[in-house]
Amino acid sequence: MAGSDTMRAATIDRYGPPGTIRLRDVPKPNPGAGEVRVRVCAGTVNRTDTATLRGHPFFVRAMTGLLRPKMHILGMDFAGVIDALGADVARFTVGERVFGLLPERFGGHAEYVCLPADAAIARIPDGLAFDKAAVGEGAWYAHSTTKRLEAGQRCLIYGASGAIGTAAVQLAKMRGAQVTAVVGERHIALAHSLGADRVVNYEAEEFTAIGETFDLVFDAVGKTSWFACRPLLKKGGIFAATDLGPYWSNIFLGAWFGLTGSRRVGVPFPEDAPGFLRELAGLMAKGRFRGVFDRCYRLSEIVEAFRYVEKGQKTGIVVLDIASRDAGSGSA
Ligand SMILES: NC(=O)c1ccc[n+]([C@@H]2O[C@H](COP(=O)([O-])OP(=O)(O)OC[C@H]3O[C@@H](n4cnc5c(N)ncnc54)[C@H](OP(=O)(O)O)[C@@H]3O)[C@@H](O)[C@H]2O)c1
Repeated sequence: MAGSDTMRAATIDRYGPPGTIRLRDVPKPNPGAGEVRVRVCAGTVNRTDTATLRGHPFFVRAMTGLLRPKMHILGMDFAGVIDALGADVARFTVGERVFGLLPERFGGHAEYVCLPADAAIARIPDGLAFDKAAVGEGAWYAHSTTKRLEAGQRCLIYGASGAIGTAAVQLAKMRGAQVTAVVGERHIALAHSLGADRVVNYEAEEFTAIGETFDLVFDAVGKTSWFACRPLLKKGGIFAATDLGPYWSNIFLGAWFGLTGSRRVGVPFPEDAPGFLRELAGLMAKGRFRGVFDRCYRLSEIVEAFRYVEKGQKTGIVVLDIASRDAGSGSA
């Protein structure tokens, strides 16, 4: 760990490939009024981080900075310990184990981060290790689509092995939906273990020709399209995706169907991170939701972690061990 007024962080000052990330000692942030400071034990490297690092697709720069990134430390997930409180914070005490999301400000790829006490932050359920608690990003995106499901509806999740897909299967089941998960051979057992009612191996079977129709088809990995999935949709069924689709088709089709008064195609934008995080913490405490984890990298290996995540082949979540003395111990 760096000196008492500084902290180690993975920093960026321009958009580019993973090699542009630099590990530096930077000033440790101090919590303002209404804020908490968290000593980060574990984070993740996820597809939001990789998209933001590259400033791609270009429109994300409307939020992250046109020519240069506004934020200099990425990292949307964190799990750690409350280390200091700003004025007027009653919700938390120093030493509490917390996890959360940093959707606008990022900053989880550092030893400390400050955020408002009423932002997306919740207590880690007892007994859950830090490196099993940084689970927010994929689940939040999954929730933005699966929240529209009603009990008894039928849903197909394409790409059910990524961070979003593994969360989507669990959240859709919780809403009482019948879930068909489409994954590659190596993820069949995983999809069953998450509760999928039917698992289709896209490497062995044409998933668009399985002879069933669905209320919701969710492309959780950005590898199919509304055109391909039309035979799978019930009358009035919805196609939702996490990506823009070929030639931005999901955006254009969403706008077109929107003009006709229907919302049959869309890239749902996640909302209300604080409310969702609290709901997720409750589900985790009851054992109803679990993160699925792939590799774990040290903060010093963050460039390799970004390179791995950019391949688009991870299973669930890639963890960043920021304080190895804490990771996996489950204690402060
Ligand atoms: N723009 C943004 O800010 C943003 C933010 C978050 C997510 N997203 C998008 O959301 C998508 C999902 O993110 P994620 O983190 O959940 O993904 P991820 O973890 O990178 O998911 C990759 C998974 O998809 C599987 N996969 C790869 N090719 C496939 C195919 N053709 N058909 C079915 N499965 C396939 C891979 O396993 P196999 O190869 O073994 O099948 C792997 O397990 C990504 O496309 C990402 O770009 C965008």
